Amino acid sequence: MRIDIYHASKYGNGARVADELGRLMAAGGNEVSVHHIDELSPRDIPPADLYVFGSPTHFGKAPGNIMRFLKKANLPSGARYAVFATCSATVPDKKTGRMPTEEEMEKIRRTIPMLDEQLKAKGMVKVAEMQLFVRPDTMKGPLIDGWQDKVEQFARLIGTSGGKSTGSI
Ligand SMILES: Cc1cc2nc3c(=O)[nH]c(=O)nc-3n(C[C@H](O)[C@H](O)[C@H](O)COP(=O)(O)O)c2cc1C
Repeated sequence: MRIDIYHASKYGNGARVADELGRLMAAGGNEVSVHHIDELSPRDIPPADLYVFGSPTHFGKAPGNIMRFLKKANLPSGARYAVFATCSATVPDKKTGRMPTEEEMEKIRRTIPMLDEQLKAKGMVKVAEMQLFVRPDTMKGPLIDGWQDKVEQFARLIGTSGGKSTGSI
């Protein structure tokens, strides 16, 4: 398979994830390329068997640069895609000390649904998603220990998905 990975990493955490995913998929016999979205025009995306998009989370959302990139992106209808997002790890509420539930967090982390909306509007077919966390005390990372294991699971999911259902890590 030809797999092209595009990410919008600001501080390098998502870039590390993209590189590690690329390394694993290449080791599995795929032809892989990894790019920051600033490296090419969205109109010039070459054909691939699978597209992977990675985004940080800023103010609960996918940043404007990747949303604009996806809106303009020349991507074939029916093509398969996977997405990953990085965000700060969940912390207890400052006032109550209570840990937010997953449902509450979903409402304030809209990155993956925003990417999906844009890609599905282009007729693309989702095969996998992954959310990864950076240390909560800093905006800049590093990624929380164990991230490589999650990327490995994500790579396995992508490698085995026939495009019929979406796997989530
Ligand atoms: C301006 C700004 C706003 C942020 N807002 C959020 C947020 O709302 N929720 C969250 O989980 N992380 C937030 N973060 C942390 C980012 O998710 C984190 O920097 C990013 O995932 C790291 O990935 P990168 O190194 O690939 O850019 C924010 C970071 C910045 C710089």
